[in-house]
Amino acid sequence: MMSAMRSAQIAIAGIVAAFPLVPTAVSAASVEENAQTCAGCHGENGVPQAKTTPIIWGQNEGYLYIQLRDFKSGARKSDQMSAVVASLEKADFKALAAHFAGLKWPILGQPSPPKDAAKAALTVIGSVGCTSCHLDQFQGDGTTARLAGQQSEYLFNTMTAFRDGSRANNPGMSDLMKAVQPSDIKPLAEYLASLQVVGGQQ
Ligand code: HEC
Ligand code: HEC
Repeated sequence: MMSAMRSAQIAIAGIVAAFPLVPTAVSAASVEENAQTCAGCHGENGVPQAKTTPIIWGQNEGYLYIQLRDFKSGARKSDQMSAVVASLEKADFKALAAHFAGLKWPILGQPSPPKDAAKAALTVIGSVGCTSCHLDQFQGDGTTARLAGQQSEYLFNTMTAFRDGSRANNPGMSDLMKAVQPSDIKPLAEYLASLQVVGGQQ
């Protein structure tokens, strides 16, 4: 028994020594080290410093990955984020996406909009059918963003950017936003920001 275990251990040690883990194209920094940089703007506890910076803690993994990839390629433009991703590679993006998707979404407790604004938002949501992709509680899934509880100002800015083409990394979302009246964007942002995901991940 003892000697069988010992020889198994020796065999494993031998395999590890013979085939050391070959690092893939990861930057010198670990995911924890890279995530420290993110905390400078996206928050130590998941609450971003600025209202125009999105929550990334608990966001969907596929969506996070695609955004990092698009900032790197320039398909999505942001001076701040392009500087951040410049030194990072695909393997870093995958690791960062998995890391942040696994953290708990912070509840900001943003207020519900006034009744008429909420009504305007719900009318647009119903006519465009936003929940067919973003799901019934706006939790999203995979490469579709969670919107529920996201920062209101950020949502307003990014929907405006989809609409005017300055965010051009998803032509489908741009086409949908072009069908939305500019005056409905603020009500939509406020409504989505006030939502919480009931059950499942908060
Ligand atoms: C200097 C501040 C700053 C730092 C540091 C920073 N970010 Fe950002 N990040 C932003 C801002 C601002 C935006 C919004 C960009 C826009 O839409 O114009 C953003 C957007 C994002 C988005 C898109 C989220 C969404 O909902 O579409 C992701 C993903 C992201 N950042 C991940 C990261 C990661 C991962 C790191 C660390 C490796 C990081 N950021 C570091 C400021 C920063
Ligand atoms: C056909 C599917 C589909 C429909 C319908 C749809 N979306 Fe999206 N939406 C997406 C996808 C996919 C993304 C991620 C885009 C990307 O990769 O940049 C997205 C991204 C977004 C974002 C960016 C989130 C962030 O963190 O930056 C907002 C805001 C948004 N959608 C709002 C809406 C609203 C409001 C509606 C209804 C008026 C809507 N969407 C309808 C598929 C859809």
